[in-house]
Amino acid sequence: MQERNLNFDEVIDRKNTDCLKYDFAVRRGRPADVLPLWVADMDFRTSSRILDAITERTAHGIFGYTETGEQYFEAVSGWLMRRHKMEVRPEWLVKTPGVVFAIAMAVKAFTEEGDAVLIQQPVYYPFSEVIADNKRVVVSSDLVLSADGKYRMDFDDIEKKVREHHVKLFLLCSPHNPVGRVWTSEELTRLGQICLDNGVIVVSDEIHADFVYDGYRHQPFAGLSRELENITVTCTSPGKTFNLAGLQVSNIFIANRGLRDRFRRQIAAAGYSQLGTLGLTACEAAYRYGEEWYQALMNYLKGNLDFLRDYLRERLPIIRMIEPEGTYLVWLDFRGLRLNLQELQELIVHRAGLWLDDGAIFGRTGEGFQRINTATSRSVLRQALERLEHAIQTV
Ligand SMILES: Cc1ncc(COP(=O)(O)O)c(C=O)c1O
Repeated sequence: MQERNLNFDEVIDRKNTDCLKYDFAVRRGRPADVLPLWVADMDFRTSSRILDAITERTAHGIFGYTETGEQYFEAVSGWLMRRHKMEVRPEWLVKTPGVVFAIAMAVKAFTEEGDAVLIQQPVYYPFSEVIADNKRVVVSSDLVLSADGKYRMDFDDIEKKVREHHVKLFLLCSPHNPVGRVWTSEELTRLGQICLDNGVIVVSDEIHADFVYDGYRHQPFAGLSRELENITVTCTSPGKTFNLAGLQVSNIFIANRGLRDRFRRQIAAAGYSQLGTLGLTACEAAYRYGEEWYQALMNYLKGNLDFLRDYLRERLPIIRMIEPEGTYLVWLDFRGLRLNLQELQELIVHRAGLWLDDGAIFGRTGEGFQRINTATSRSVLRQALERLEHAIQTV
C-alpha cells in the first residue's frame, strides 16, 4: 500500500475542529487571529496507513472494551528495537491514556505526600504541576546554559539536592523539552549512578525519542545497564511521532516487577482499565506501517530547522536559537531585547500576533525565552518569523 500523506507543505485548516491549538485562543486570553505555534502537536496529517487502519476498524461498527495481544506488542517492541535498540518484554508493558497520566500515577505510586520529586528546569511544565497537584514537593536541579549555547546537567547540584531533600523520584525528560538536548550515554550513566547510590526511582519520559537530528542518538535510560533497568519507568508513545495526541495512547515499560505492581495498582485505584479502541488501532498501525511517513516527516522537520536557523541568523540575530539536538520544539533566547516578562508577552502576542509558549512557564530559569513549535508547514513558519521580525522592528 502506498503512503499518501507526504505533502507536508500543504497548509491544512485546523480551525473549527475543537483543536486546542487553534480554536481556544480567545478563551485562553489571546486575540482570535493569533498564529499558534505553542502546544506540542503538529499541523500535519498523520500517515495514511494509520488512517486506513482506523477507517477499517471503524467500519466494523462495534466499539466494545478492547485489549491488545501479541501483534500489538510486536509492533510496539519492533519499533523500539529498530529505532532505539531498546529491548522490552511483553510483561513489562502497561498501557496508559497518555504520558502525563503515567507520570502522575508514578508520582502517586512511588512517593508519599510531602516527599520531594526532582526535575530539571526549564522542563515540560506538567512535570512540576503533577508533583504539586499531588501535594509532593518540587525540587529542581536547574539545567545550566553554558557559554557554547548548550544546556548541561549540574551533577554536583543533583547529588546535593537528592541527599538534602531525600529525593525518592526523579522525572527525566529525554530528549529534553524545551531545551532540545539528546542526553549522551555518559551523561545518563552519571545521572543514573547518583540515582542508584541514593535509592531514587527514575521516570524517563522518552516521548520525543523519535525526533533526533543527524549526529545524535537517543539512548534509552533503562538500556544503559540492568541495574538502571531495575529502577526505571520508561514512558514511550506514538503520540508525538505520529501526531496522535488526541487518541491518547502511551506504552509504559517497567522491568522491575515490584515497581510495576505498584504502578498498576495506582492505575486501578484511579478506576482506569482499558484504553480506547481507536488509539490502540492507530498505535499498532503507526509502529507497523508508519516508517515511510516518519522518515519523510523527519526530513521536513530538518528543513524547517534549517530555515528557522538561517532566518534568525540573517534577519533576527538578536534572537539566539538554542540549537536542538532533538524534538521539533525550539528554545529561543529573547534576552538580547532586554524586555521584562510583560513587555516580551506584549511583543509576542499583541505586536507579532503569535502564540508561543512563554519560557517562564517551564521554570524560573526560562524567563526571557520562548518555545516555538516548528512542526508546521514551512509557509506558516515563514509567516510567523515575518510577523516577529516586523514586530521587533517596531520596538
Ligand atoms: C516531555 C513530554 N511529555 C509528555 C507530553 C504529553 O504526553 P501525553 O499527551 O501522552 O500526556 C509532552 C507533550 O508535549 C511532552 O513534551
